[in-house]
Amino acid sequence: MTEEKLSFQAEVSRLLDIVVHSLYSNKEIFLRELISNASDACDRLRYAAITQPELTAGDGQFAIRILADATARTLTVVDNGIGMNRQDLIDNLGTIARSGTANFLGHLTGDARKDVALIGQFGVGFYSAFMVADRVEVITRRAGEEMGWRWESDGKGEFTVAESPEAGRGARIVLHLREGEDEFLQPYRLRQIVKTYSDHIGLPIIIVEDGKDNVANTASALWTRAKGEITAEQYKEFYHHVAHAFDEPWLTIHYKAEGAIEYAGLLFVPRARPFDLFHPERRQHVKLYVKRVFITDDCEELLPAYLRFMRGIVDSQDLPLNVSREMLQHNPVLAKIRAGLVKRVLGELKKKAEESQEDYAVFWEAFGAVLKEGLYEDFERRNEILELCRFRTTKSDAPVSLGEYVARMKDGQEAIFTITGDDPAALRKSPQLEGFMARDVEVLLLTDPIDEFWGSAVTDYQGKPFRSVAQAGTDLGKIKKPEASEEAEPPAGELSSLIAAFKLALGDAVKDVRRSERLTDSAVCLVADDGEMSMHLERLLRQHRQVDAVAPRILELNPSHPLIRRLAEKTSQEGMGEALGDMAHLLLDQARIVEGESVPDAAGFARRFAAMLEKGLG
Ligand SMILES: Nc1ncnc2c1ncn2[C@@H]1O[C@H](COP(=O)(O)OP(=O)(O)OP(=O)(O)O)[C@@H](O)[C@H]1O
Ligand SMILES: [Mg+2]
Repeated sequence: MTEEKLSFQAEVSRLLDIVVHSLYSNKEIFLRELISNASDACDRLRYAAITQPELTAGDGQFAIRILADATARTLTVVDNGIGMNRQDLIDNLGTIARSGTANFLGHLTGDARKDVALIGQFGVGFYSAFMVADRVEVITRRAGEEMGWRWESDGKGEFTVAESPEAGRGARIVLHLREGEDEFLQPYRLRQIVKTYSDHIGLPIIIVEDGKDNVANTASALWTRAKGEITAEQYKEFYHHVAHAFDEPWLTIHYKAEGAIEYAGLLFVPRARPFDLFHPERRQHVKLYVKRVFITDDCEELLPAYLRFMRGIVDSQDLPLNVSREMLQHNPVLAKIRAGLVKRVLGELKKKAEESQEDYAVFWEAFGAVLKEGLYEDFERRNEILELCRFRTTKSDAPVSLGEYVARMKDGQEAIFTITGDDPAALRKSPQLEGFMARDVEVLLLTDPIDEFWGSAVTDYQGKPFRSVAQAGTDLGKIKKPEASEEAEPPAGELSSLIAAFKLALGDAVKDVRRSERLTDSAVCLVADDGEMSMHLERLLRQHRQVDAVAPRILELNPSHPLIRRLAEKTSQEGMGEALGDMAHLLLDQARIVEGESVPDAAGFARRFAAMLEKGLG
C-alpha cells in the first residue's frame, strides 16, 4: 500500500502556520467546525441518496459520533456522510476552496496578534483542528466507492494520502491532541461545546461515554421548532453554521407559510457584507430544503439577486424530494415561495426602518447598494423598494428617505434633484450644486454604481420626477433665489457675443456653450445635454473599457462671475483675440478637471497656462 507525500497549497501552509502557532484563546471552536463539516457531508449524501438510494443502503440513519480516548489522547469525530475519495482529499484538505477560510486569508494583516484574532472572526474550517492537535488523520470512504483513503498531516506543510480498505462510509477525523489540551478528552466539556455551538444541527451528535451513546444536541432542524422555544444564541449559532459567517445577524426572520403552499423560512440579514456580495455571478445563498432534506444552496430561483445578502434556509413541503436542477427552473411552487419570501423580507425591512433609523442605517450602509438593484430589476416591487431606500444628501450625511426629502422640498421645487459620483465629499464640492445650495435646495448624493442605472427605470417618486443637477435641462427658474445672492451680470448682448466667441474657439471640443443658471461661485462647469449619458456613467464605462470615446459636453458660463463679466466686456470691446481662444480652452480644461475628467491635450493646457501666468506677471 503506497503512501503519497504531497505539499499543501501555499495559502494552506500560511494558514496552518498561523493556526498551529496561534495563541488563540477560544480553541474550542475547532469542534464546531468539524461538526459543521460532518453535518454538511450528511446533508449532501441524504440529497444524493434521493436519486441513488443504494448510496445509503444498510446505513440510512445519519449521525455524528464523538469519541474521546484518554489513553491514546485522541479525539475522534465520525460521520456516515458522503465521505471523500483520494482526489477529494487532495482538493479539499490540501487547497483552500472558496469558503470562510478563503475570506480569512483575504483579511490577514501580517500582524500576528491581529491575525490570530481573525481565527475566531472567520473560523478556519477543517484546519482549526491543528489548534489543538499536532497530528490529524482523516480515514474516509466516499459513498458508493469501494476504496477508502487515509489522509494524515502534522500541519507543517505536507500531508500523506494512502489507501485504507477498512475505512467506513463517511469520514473519521482523528485528532492527536497536543500537550495541555486534555480538556477536550472530557465528555462534559465536549457536551458543553456541542450545546454552545452545534445544538441546532439537525441530526444527532452522539458523545460516546464509557461505551454508552449520549445525544448531546436537540437534533431537530431548528426551523421546525416553535419560535418561542429558540434562544437568540441558538438562532445566532444556526446563522453561523448555515452562512459560514461569524458576525451577529442583523435581522432574523423565522416563519411558516401555510395555505396553498406550505414552507418554513429561517432567514438572516447579516450585519457584515459577505465576501462575495459584489461577485459578478451575484449568487444567492439561501439553502433549499424539501421536507427537511437539504437539496441545494445554489437555487437562483429562490430569491432575486437584489436580496442575495440573505442567508438561511427555506424548507418546502410541496416540492418533490427528487427535485432536479431543471425542475427548479420555472417551477410554479418555487415561484410562489419566492414571491412570499420577497414580500416577507421587504416587509420586515420596512418594519426595521420604522423602528430605528440608526439601526436601519447599519443595514443600509452594508446592503443598500445591492437592494437598489431591485429598483432596476423588480418592476412589481419598485415602489416598495423605493420606500426602503436611503440617501445621503447635500443637507444630511445620515441616510434620508425619499419621504423625508419630499417633505422638505422648497416652494416651486417640482423635482427630486440628484447628482452622481464616486464620493460624497467630492460631490459636495461640485460646481453644478452651487445654484441649488444657494437656493437651499437639497440634492441627493448618489455614489453607488447602480445609481447610474436605476434612474432609467424609476421615473418618479410620488409623482416627483428625478432630475440630475448635472443635466442641461434641469431648471431652477421656479425656485426663488435669496435676494442677497443677486449679482451683477454683463449686458445680455455682451454675454452672447462671448458665448459665440467661445463656441468658435472651442469648436467640437464642446457640444454647446451656454449661460448658466446653476453656478454662483465657479466661472464655468460642464453639464450633459438632456437624454445624454451622465458624465459619471461615461467615466465608469470607460474605466470598464465599455466605451472609449469622450462625448463633448455643454460648457456653462456663470454670467455673474467677475472673470466672465470681464471677458464679456473685453470681447465686446476688442472682439475675439488669440488670448480669448486660450482662455476658452483653459476654462474648458478647468471644468474637466473639476469634473474628474482628464485633460485631453495636456501639453496645450500647460502651454496656455504658462502663457496666462506670464501675462499675469504683467
Ligand atoms: N467530514 C467531512 N466529510 C466530507 N467532506 C469533508 C468533511 N470535512 C471537510 N470536508 C471537505 O473539505 C472541505 C474543506 O472544509 P473546510 O471546513 O475547511 O471548508 P468549508 O466547510 O467548505 O467552509 P468553511 O470555511 O466555512 O468551513 C469541505 O468543503 C468538504 O468538501
Ligand atoms: Mg467547514
